[in-house]
Amino acid sequence: MSRILITSALPYINGIKHLGNLAGSMLPADVYARFMRARGHEVLYICATDEHGTPAELAAAKAGQDVRTYCDEQHEVQKNAGDAFGLSYNWFGRSSSPENRALTQMFCEALDANGLIEERTDKMVYSIDDGRFLPDRYVEGTCPHCKFEKARGDQCDNCGRLLDPTDLIDPYSAVSGSRNLEVRDTKHLYLLQTKVEPQLRAWIESKTEWPQLAKSIAMKHLEEGLIDRGITRDLKWGVPVTKDGQPREGFENKVFYVWFDAPIEYIGATQEYFNAQGDADGWAKWWRLDQGADDVTYVEFMGKDNVAFHTVSFPATIIGSGEPWKMVDTLKAFNWLNWYGGKFSTSMNRGVFMDQALELLPADYWRWYLISQSPEGSDSSFTWEQFQGAVNKDLADVLGNFVNRITKFTETKMGGIVPEGGEAGELEEKLYADLSVLLTEATEAFEAMEMRKAAQAVRAIWVLGNVYLQEAAPWTALKTDAVRAGVVVRHGLNLVRLFAALAQPLIPFTAEKIAATVSTTLPLDWPTTDARAELSKLVSGTLVASGEVLFKKIDEDMLADWAARFGGEA
Ligand code: 2FM
Ligand code: ZN
Repeated sequence: MSRILITSALPYINGIKHLGNLAGSMLPADVYARFMRARGHEVLYICATDEHGTPAELAAAKAGQDVRTYCDEQHEVQKNAGDAFGLSYNWFGRSSSPENRALTQMFCEALDANGLIEERTDKMVYSIDDGRFLPDRYVEGTCPHCKFEKARGDQCDNCGRLLDPTDLIDPYSAVSGSRNLEVRDTKHLYLLQTKVEPQLRAWIESKTEWPQLAKSIAMKHLEEGLIDRGITRDLKWGVPVTKDGQPREGFENKVFYVWFDAPIEYIGATQEYFNAQGDADGWAKWWRLDQGADDVTYVEFMGKDNVAFHTVSFPATIIGSGEPWKMVDTLKAFNWLNWYGGKFSTSMNRGVFMDQALELLPADYWRWYLISQSPEGSDSSFTWEQFQGAVNKDLADVLGNFVNRITKFTETKMGGIVPEGGEAGELEEKLYADLSVLLTEATEAFEAMEMRKAAQAVRAIWVLGNVYLQEAAPWTALKTDAVRAGVVVRHGLNLVRLFAALAQPLIPFTAEKIAATVSTTLPLDWPTTDARAELSKLVSGTLVASGEVLFKKIDEDMLADWAARFGGEA
């Protein structure tokens, strides 16, 4: 048994997340966490709301609330949405926590003590009409690299490049739209990333096993050359800047940059979790190499736009602190799940959001679709037709129908129990052989975090079960050979149990219902690759009850209604 630390990129606090956000970090992280738990590992899955910076301030202003009240409310909204989707965080924290504040200040002071912090006078965009500096997302304009016209001051959403607000062409205030801007001097702290470049390069180059997308983005940023990064901002809401535990002179009206404190919240949230259990030191065995974290495997999940921050900025903070912190072992990045070829967009209300999705159908329908279409190799696109296909064919026809058919048959024809007696025949031997291959494939894909492949392999096992049942036809056998019918039904019911075990990471709510049909409860151990053994786990005489229909199909009217409500052609 190993200890696995899993984090998914912290969702910004500014409103409920859309399905693109879910597909690109939180959901695959949850699938992996559930898989690893079923494998018997000790998993700590941490996430939190990312509450500082301009996204929070701008959204609170738009909602007419003070930032803290806004964050309090929205944290609950996001926590509830995560629960409803079955996201099995061990802790869903808040980057505005006292724990994160103390850690962030501590990291900066450690970097400072190591000569890696410098005060510099910057030229920053100042809005004369708004009477304030416009850091990061407070200013928008045209990207100097790709000419996208709605680039934000910190990053271009089109080409993914990190930007400085002063890079933007034709900038305007995101607060008021005013173009009455000028560049003024303001003092900021810089993290001297250039000084840790050799260590950072050696660390990234040692990560030969990283999935390809993360590795290539990390290398691209290294090749482009590191620059020193401003880590403070002229904002009120955020972590105050300190020196020797006191407000830092000249920085009384400034706070840390959100991207400085957000990744530190992975540690902060772990402290929140252990503090909530009255175990104030418990977090350290996950994060401090000098306190046992050297045997932890740490995996991060995120969208591709977050990779630079997790392979360069955050590691530079950790390395520069000179302290023995646990660093990421594997970084799994995702491309975009698009909405009909364009982007899902919170600001433009494009696409389906987590709360809306659950008003249409239960979480597992979405979980299955989003994982089976996971944007791994390239961007993928949400379409209503594909969603309908995934639900009607994979879930209803292949999985739901199998479970329903064999459990109903057992109820009506076999006395509602797992039958005993009889030897496995040729069809069963073939089933064992084919199933072993697919179980190996599925397990390897989950291990490698290849979500699409994992879903495909699980689906192939469902199909295999259907093919077996069709060929072995217990309903025909029963007319002439009750023992043979019993053998087939026993194998069918064991397949039901196996399907429940395999479904746990992907569709956990349904997995529970499937398990219940054969009097089994979750969690079930992840199946071994010994198919013969896996298909003889149910004890003869176990009660079988078909239960409710597992999935209802999406018909054309539903599809047309949703397409009309949410856009997209159906
Ligand atoms: O891009 C985003 O949504 C960020 N809120 C992700 C932060 S990840 C971590 F570093 F906190
Ligand atoms: Zn751009």
